[in-house]
Amino acid sequence: MAENKRPASMERITTPALAQAFIREQIAALRAQIGDRRVLLALSGGVDSSVVAALLIKAVGKQLTCVHVNHGLLRKGEPEQVIEVFRNQMNANLIYVDAVDRFLDKLAGVSDPETKRKIIGAEFIRVFEEEARKLEGIDFLAQGTIYPDILESDGVKAHHNVGGLPEDLQFELVEPVKFLYKDEVRVVGKELGLPDNMVYRQPFPGPGLGVRCVGAITRDRLEALRESDAILREEFAKNGLAGKVWQYFTIVPDFKSTGIKDGKRTFEWFVVIRAVNSVDATSATVEEIPYPLLHHITKRITSEVKGVNRVLYDLSPKPVATIEWE
Ligand code: XMP
Repeated sequence: MAENKRPASMERITTPALAQAFIREQIAALRAQIGDRRVLLALSGGVDSSVVAALLIKAVGKQLTCVHVNHGLLRKGEPEQVIEVFRNQMNANLIYVDAVDRFLDKLAGVSDPETKRKIIGAEFIRVFEEEARKLEGIDFLAQGTIYPDILESDGVKAHHNVGGLPEDLQFELVEPVKFLYKDEVRVVGKELGLPDNMVYRQPFPGPGLGVRCVGAITRDRLEALRESDAILREEFAKNGLAGKVWQYFTIVPDFKSTGIKDGKRTFEWFVVIRAVNSVDATSATVEEIPYPLLHHITKRITSEVKGVNRVLYDLSPKPVATIEWE
């Protein structure tokens, strides 16, 4: 489709000045498209939807309504940051939906990875649909589609996809960054004033921590996962690895082993650390984390995270392993 092809004349956005010019053009284009009507956006807090939100706030302000669905599988501090940045700092219309119990109840006892993904995706559409129905007079749906989404999957964005909405909720699409590559989206995000940890965020799967709480998700193991991931991220940031390593996170499988704490025998989970480098996620190599840092992170996780007595480092490249464990 011609309208889904990046114009040959379009310059790569590599500098703040080019990003500013893009922002000016997009604001004018968004105002022309939307006029005085209303737009809805599913705002995950990832870089693509955050950049779309920031552009729309500049272009049409309160005519934009953002919906942030907390499915309980986000990393520590993420929902709070979305509220802080978009509602408090940018003064956006933001609907925060606490759907944690809904998602975790649906996922209880489900251990098959693809079934877990399907439940999370379907429930997300349902929650978003309910919110959309409560609003009146929405004409447009904004999406953080970027150019690789169009090239790879005919424009179907798997991880932000609200395309599964029913017939009577089909809105006209607003996709201001659909011709941008990820690095360009980041340059634009920086110029829009978004915080660095949002702009330079590592890839994070749509099903979130759900695919890292391996096996059937329980609230206590999910908590151990979220806390260990927060410690890993904090230590990577402190030690200059956050901007250097492509993707890093922890995994907590549904498996226990013995240990000793305070002179008593324990039977608790282990945390796996994964830290990989990649260009496009089709292959990946393992980051060589210095041993003293691995020891320090292990000590912190085993003493600060409830229910954990062991930490392992995954040395498997992709292939043969995948990046995620599910
Ligand atoms: P794998 O595990 O297949 O992951 O080596 C490659 C990249 O894709 C991310 N990933 C996902 N992203 N929904 C997503 O939006 C998913 O279901 C999903 N599974 C994996 C993964 O984090 C890595 O960056």
